[in-house]
Amino acid sequence: MKKDLLTISDLSNDDIEEIFRRARFLKERFHGGENYYSLKGKILGMIFKKPSTRTRISFESGMYQLGGHALFLSSKDLQMDRGESIADTAKIFSLYLNGIVIRTYSQGEVEDLAVNASIPVINGLTDLHHPCQILCDMFTIMERLGRLRGVKVAYVGDGNNIANSWLDGASKMGMNLSISSPDGYKPDSEIVKRAIQRAQKNGGKIELTKDPFEGVKDADIIYTDVWTSMGQDEEYEKRLKDFKGFQVNADLMSLAKKDVLIMHCLPAHRGEEISSDVINGERSIIFEEAENRLHVQKAILEMLMS
Ligand code: CP
Ligand code: NVA
Repeated sequence: MKKDLLTISDLSNDDIEEIFRRARFLKERFHGGENYYSLKGKILGMIFKKPSTRTRISFESGMYQLGGHALFLSSKDLQMDRGESIADTAKIFSLYLNGIVIRTYSQGEVEDLAVNASIPVINGLTDLHHPCQILCDMFTIMERLGRLRGVKVAYVGDGNNIANSWLDGASKMGMNLSISSPDGYKPDSEIVKRAIQRAQKNGGKIELTKDPFEGVKDADIIYTDVWTSMGQDEEYEKRLKDFKGFQVNADLMSLAKKDVLIMHCLPAHRGEEISSDVINGERSIIFEEAENRLHVQKAILEMLMS
């Protein structure tokens, strides 16, 4: 049966461990200058209704590196934007392609596509989730710290798609997650509820606070994301005011563990959610985090499309 990746909850812990094992293998091969053609002849369709640097380029190059092809499909060039239904589009895609990555606004649209397609559908970001990003981030933490269980991630900022996928990922892997965000910007309440229950079962802890200084106490990782996500540009000025005090900077870092690592999914707005000195500083691992998008997503493509 085909498998989709719409949220991290679609994967079992064994799936995630297998993805990490395979990502390590593919990363080593890649650094050794060796390509590994496990998806020879396979074609990935990539529908993007929002901009992307990392997701698009890493999936597209990853597919070529595995011996397959990738088709970038801007939604404005598809009949989808002229009213062709998701169900019909999904059926047509399934006749020509072996997998789909979609970046769009509504999670429901991605679910509709998956239900109607007979090929795997991968969520490349919606307003609600960004599963590929958090899988890559957990892999990066695993590489650095050698474990996930018991590691404390302090997410500071907007309770957005990244925060929601962190709730899914951390609770599954027995991590401790604190999310500090101002009132009115908390993560999705259903996702929080599910994460708290799951964390209890898996030996992890989920905490929500509006005080970032409390949130980052004893953190192994401080993680942040933009205050204004794609599709929210008209709220930019209001959000600048509402998120005052939530910047990841040297002051905030001083309350975390001495060897805390700084992560950001990127793109970053230096001087807003994170100061330049912190993002450029010696504790920042944002570029290795970005590199791992390539290796982990190749492992995801292999798992779903082989
Ligand atoms: N982090 C991330 O998904 O980046 P892009 O928006 O550039 O794809
Ligand atoms: N929260 C951000 C993530 C970008 C990768 C957005 O949705 O724009």
